[in-house]
Amino acid sequence: MIRKSGIIITGLLLIPFISSQGVSMEHTNIGISATNRIAVADILNTILDHEFVLYVKTLNYHWNVKGIIFHDFHALFKEQYEKLLDIADDVAERVRTLGLPAHGTMAEFSQSSLTEKPGAVPSAKQMIKNLLTDHETIIKLIRADLQKIADDLGDLGTNNFLTEIMERHEKMAWMLRATVSK
Ligand SMILES: [Fe+2]
Repeated sequence: MIRKSGIIITGLLLIPFISSQGVSMEHTNIGISATNRIAVADILNTILDHEFVLYVKTLNYHWNVKGIIFHDFHALFKEQYEKLLDIADDVAERVRTLGLPAHGTMAEFSQSSLTEKPGAVPSAKQMIKNLLTDHETIIKLIRADLQKIADDLGDLGTNNFLTEIMERHEKMAWMLRATVSK
C-alpha cells in the first residue's frame, strides 16, 4: 500500500497472479500478451542457464590453466568471465522486465547442455576450443530465437536486446578463435 498526497493506492495491479499455464507472474501493460511474455521468458531463461554455465566454465579455466601461456590465458579468461556474468545479469533482468521469475538456482542452471563434468583439467588449447564451441552454440541458439521472438511473439524489445547479446558473444568467440589460429 502506498500513500501519495493523502490518497491510499492499494497497488492491486502489482500483486502477482497465476497464469492459465500455472506460472506466477506480474501484471505489465506493455502491449505483449501474458502468453507471449511467458514464451519469451522461457527462451530467455534457457539462454540464462547457458550463460551461467559458460561463466562458471570460464572461471574454472581462469583458475586452472597452466603452461607457458599462463599469464595471457589467465587474463583473457578473467576478461571473458566478467563479461559473461554481466550478460547473465542482463538476461535475468530482462526476464524480470517481462514480469516473470528469472532462473536463479544451480538446479536450473545445470539444465544447460554446456555443463562440464568434473575430471581431468583440459589443456590450455583445449580450454580455448571448448569455450569457442560453447560461444558458437549460444550464438546459433540466439540467432534461431530472434525471428520467433519478433515475428511470432511480437517482442521487438527482446529481439533487439538479444541481438546485442549475440554480438557480444561473436566478439568473444573471435578473440578465442584468434588465440589458437595459426
Ligand atoms: Fe582471479
